[in-house]
Formats: sequence, structure tokens, C-alpha cells
Amino acid sequence: MSSSQETPLSAEAYRFIVDLIYRHSRIKLGSDKQALLSSRLTKRLRSIGLSSFDDYCAVLRSPQSQDEIEELLDLISTNHTRFYREPDHFDYLIAKILPPLIPTLIARRSPLRVWSAASSSGEEPYTLAIVLSEFLRAFPAVDWQICASDISKRVLTAAKQGVYRMDAVEPVPPDLLKRYFQKGFGAQEGKCRVRSELRDKVRYERINLFQHEYPIPLQQHVIFCRNVMIYFDIPSREQAVKRMSHYLAPSGYLIVGHSESLMGINHGLKSIQQGIYQKP
Ligand SMILES: C[S@@+](CC[C@H](N)C(=O)[O-])C[C@H]1O[C@@H](n2cnc3c(N)ncnc32)[C@H](O)[C@@H]1O
Repeated sequence: MSSSQETPLSAEAYRFIVDLIYRHSRIKLGSDKQALLSSRLTKRLRSIGLSSFDDYCAVLRSPQSQDEIEELLDLISTNHTRFYREPDHFDYLIAKILPPLIPTLIARRSPLRVWSAASSSGEEPYTLAIVLSEFLRAFPAVDWQICASDISKRVLTAAKQGVYRMDAVEPVPPDLLKRYFQKGFGAQEGKCRVRSELRDKVRYERINLFQHEYPIPLQQHVIFCRNVMIYFDIPSREQAVKRMSHYLAPSGYLIVGHSESLMGINHGLKSIQQGIYQKP
């Protein structure tokens, strides 16, 4: 039930906003998310001086609505993530993907390219950066670069900063925490920051998985696209997987979240194990 503080959201305004969110991000909000939407958006309405959702819909309909639509997507996206989430994917990367790939990269003098395609606030790409940096200490000839992207500008700003509370970095092994993070002092007490050497290895871009082209290099060796497919319907999953596959090198891997599956999707990738797919 909505609180008395919240601005009333009519069924018509709700349908309009849900439809707009779907058209722009393919995030599908069910018919039961009215209270959630109203609570997330009421503060936004106030901050831009509006008193009703009808006025807000008018802003979203206007020709200059792009910035407000981006704000809306920021507010409704679910950004939950953590360091070393679903750790077996990182284990698979170092045990199965990298060992056969490294000699080819060295022979071709080619960099290793990894993309975290719904990176949220940076925990996933920085985990990847730590894992790659550690593994590649034995192969100094191999250059590597991580692209990280998300639809939400808010999380990308946080990710670029690379500042986390100490409890957020608990999953990072202590020796790696020391090597790759700097402890904060004074106003930053209780926080730590990813060291600049590691931050520099991650390039952030705002990418909506449904835009036509992605501003990242082709020939990615591994794409992590985890815990975002669950928000999309089947046709949208298929579209996103096909677009991402175009950016994969031959034999490259697409890794999705544990609770996600590409079942029922025509994707042309080889299923290796739960959540791990390879381009033929
Ligand atoms: C739950 S987080 C997952 C973060 C990380 N991959 C993980 O597994 O911990 C899902 C992220 O997907 C992003 N997202 C949602 N729809 C998107 C879209 N259409 N294109 C790109 N990113 C999207 C959200 O902003 C959010 O940060």
C-alpha cells in the first residue's frame, strides 16, 4: 500500500511509465509494481517541482525527454551486486578459458579483451580486474583491457570512483585487498578505494544492451552479462544475446547469471555448462 507521503499514481500513468521503461530498456515491470514505482518516483517528482504523475508523464512525452528518461531508468533499475559474486565463474575463467587462450594471444600479440556488460557499481569488473591481474602476473607479455557498461549513469559514476565501504570488500581475500585497494582516512574512514593502476584497466561506457551498436571493440574474448537477463522477456533476451555475440571473438565466451538461462532462445552459441556459453 502506498504511504500518505506518496503522490497518487493512476492506472493510466502507471501503464504509460511501464510501457516507456520497456521500450527504452526492455525491463519489464509486472502489473503488481505500482507501489514500488510510486515510492521510487515520488522523490524525483518533488525534486523537479512536479506535484502529479500526470505532469511527470507530460515531461516524459515532451521532445526534450531524453535526460528525464535516463533519470527514470536510473531510478527503477535494480543494481544489486557484490565482489566475487557467483565465484565459480571466475574460477572457470582462470582454470578453463585463459590457459588455452594465452599462447594464442602471445603469438598474435593481441590483448585480452573482457566485457562486463551490466556492471552496476563496479564490483564485477573490479573482481575481473583483480582475477586477470593476478593470473597474468605470470604472462607479462599479455596486455589486457576490461570494458564495463551499464544503462544507469548513477552506478557508472560510482563505479568510476571505485570507492567502497569496508563491509562491501569483505569477499576480497585479505592479501588482494592490500594489493589492489587503498584504505581511506579522515572523511573516508571505513571506506577503501580501488588503486588507480587497477581502475585504469577498466573503461566505463553507458550502454543500453538494446541500442543498435555498442561503443566497444569487436573480438571480445569473454563477456560477463550476469543477473540482468532476468529482467527481460524471452524475445528481448534473444535480441540482447545475438547483439552481444556479434562482439565475441570466435571461441569467445558469454557468461550469464546462475539463475538465468538461455533456454528457449535461438542464440547459436554452444552451451558449455550452466550459465556458460561459447561462440562456435
Ligand atoms: C542486478 S545488476 C547485476 C550486476 C552484475 N552483473 C552482477 O551480476 O552482480 C543488473 C544491472 O543491469 C543494468 N541494466 C538493466 N537493464 C539494462 C539494459 N537494458 N542495458 C544495460 N544494462 C541494464 C542495471 O542498471 C543494473 O545495474
